Amino acid sequence: MSTAEIGLIGLGTMGAALASNIADNGFDIAVFNRTTSVTNEFHATAGELAAKITPTETLEDFVAAIAKPRAIILMVPAGDPVDQQIAALRPLLDDDDLIIDAGNALFHDTNRRAREATAPFLGIGVSGGEEGARFGPAIMGGGKREYWDRVEHILKAISAKFQDEPCATYMGEEGAGHFVKAVHNGIEYADMQMIAEVYGVMRDGMGMSAAEIGATFARWNEGPLASYLIEISGEVAKATDPASGKAMLDIIVDAAGQKGTGRWTAIEAQHLAAPIPAIEAAVVARNLSSRMDERAAGEDLFGTAPQKIDSITLDQLEQALIAGKVLCYAQGFTMIEAASDSYGWSLPLPSIAQNWRAGCIIRSAMLDDMATALGENPDRNLMFAPVFADYLKANHKALREVVAAGALGGVAMPALSSGITYFDAMRTKRGTANMIQGQRDYFGRHGFAKFGVDGKDHHGPWAD
Ligand code: 6PG
Repeated sequence: MSTAEIGLIGLGTMGAALASNIADNGFDIAVFNRTTSVTNEFHATAGELAAKITPTETLEDFVAAIAKPRAIILMVPAGDPVDQQIAALRPLLDDDDLIIDAGNALFHDTNRRAREATAPFLGIGVSGGEEGARFGPAIMGGGKREYWDRVEHILKAISAKFQDEPCATYMGEEGAGHFVKAVHNGIEYADMQMIAEVYGVMRDGMGMSAAEIGATFARWNEGPLASYLIEISGEVAKATDPASGKAMLDIIVDAAGQKGTGRWTAIEAQHLAAPIPAIEAAVVARNLSSRMDERAAGEDLFGTAPQKIDSITLDQLEQALIAGKVLCYAQGFTMIEAASDSYGWSLPLPSIAQNWRAGCIIRSAMLDDMATALGENPDRNLMFAPVFADYLKANHKALREVVAAGALGGVAMPALSSGITYFDAMRTKRGTANMIQGQRDYFGRHGFAKFGVDGKDHHGPWAD
């Protein structure tokens, strides 16, 4: 019986949540998982949604259960499993059946799959973790518009809503959706890292307990920093480990994991020559966090840093985070603009900010202002938009003071310090690259431009 309006393969955490969301929104869905017991368990525990779900044991049965032209969502691990799943599925499908990769794919892979595809294919980024997938994620679509149009009603229905506006947006051709998702994750890394850095100042520099830190984040969540990430940071800091009775945060090992999307963003930024130092610093910080033995050896060799920080207040920390956040998002959006030009995607910057206002991990009050500012002028770096320029004018001094205090106290702040460096570089009319140009010309006759003189290929007296 081909009655399901859509199919989904891969009932891991995200796939199961997304399938339930689709069923919950009234769509009949066929599901398949490589391990049949997972499929059966999913169906058996679906409660009243079970009536909307068709569990299947073979790919053939799965395909047969979906109404034509079919639309099939893949929620399998990124990389080879996606290619393998497509290869297994395609021979069973009709020419106009649509495959949608909704995993965290590298956008270059999505570009390739879209180009190689002899039948309809979409790559969509889905953000919001398990809860988002279940109750409303932010969705970033890429591929041919006509394929998006076929499933837009389903994707909009299951997406998060910001003031009734669905957070499911078509971004552009081929891997555009997965590219935007990768930048989202890069920003996510930097936002998380900056929060972790101010946590470090509070814990090591100011001697605050996890509970006090949790209460501070909760208070900040009432102001300009209001966001999902600040909210959950407060929750994490306040939590107690039921087994030991200790603060949960104090017994979580300080080595960050990563699946790679932030790293992809940093690598791609280098290809695009897009400056995103906060995101790069956040990736570096995660890599460094994993080198636990080396860090311990370093502490043995060099001793602990002084660390007591009594020269700054919690208000200054909040202000530093506000400035850092503005700079980090400004960098992320300029990278999207660079990719838009470079790949000819016409990425809709205002719609991207709008799309991130609900459902996704980086949703925040500030994103609403970003959507407005980008709507006024999508080509302008956000740090120059009046509302964000005002934030920076009011808060960059605190960012500078916090970074300086951290440096003196020995509390590492890679992302926040990269923020103030970016800010200073971006407001310095006369920089220092003239020295680089002189050096390049000295050793390699690379030539340079001169103020007040036409031409780009002048040489210094050392050429003789
Ligand atoms: C989201 C998240 C989601 C997830 C990453 C975790 O938007 O829902 O970005 O994709 O958090 O897979 O990434 P790391 O393991 O790299 O932190």
